[in-house]
Amino acid sequence: MKYCWAIILVAFVSPVVADTPGSGSQFIQAAGADLVQGHCTACHSALIVTSQRGDAAFWLNTIRWMQKTQNLWAIPAQQEQQIVAYLAKHYAEQEWGRRPQLSPLLLP
Ligand code: HEC
Repeated sequence: MKYCWAIILVAFVSPVVADTPGSGSQFIQAAGADLVQGHCTACHSALIVTSQRGDAAFWLNTIRWMQKTQNLWAIPAQQEQQIVAYLAKHYAEQEWGRRPQLSPLLLP
C-alpha cells in the first residue's frame, strides 16, 4: 500500500516538474523568462510571443491591447516592467542585413 501512494505521487508530480521553465520552455532563458512563461502562455502558445519583435513601447502596447480586447489580466506593475524589459531585450527588432542599394551607375 505504501508503494501505491508513491506511484500515484510520482504520476501526478512529474508532469508539473517537467513543465517548469528551464526544461522545455520556449523562451530564451534569462532574468524575467519565468514571469513571461507564467503570464504569457495561458491563452496562446509561446510562439505567438517569440515570433514578434519590438522595443519596449511595442511590447507594452501589445500588453495593453490584450488587456483591452483579449481579457488579459492586470499584471502587477513591477512584474510588468520586468516582462517588458525582458521582451525588449531578447525579442528586439533586428536589422534585416540587406546589401546597400546599387549605385545608379549600375542600374539599366
Ligand atoms: C487572457 C489571455 C491572454 C494572455 C494571458 C496573453 N495573451 Fe497574448 N493574445 C491573446 C489573444 C486572444 C491574442 C490574439 C490571438 C490571435 O490572433 O488569434 C493574443 C495575441 C498576442 C500577440 C500577437 C499580437 C498580434 O499583433 O498578432 C502577442 C505578441 C502576444 N499576444 C503577447 C503576449 C504576451 C507578451 C503576454 C504576456 C504578458 C500575453 N500575450 C498574454 C490573449 C492573451
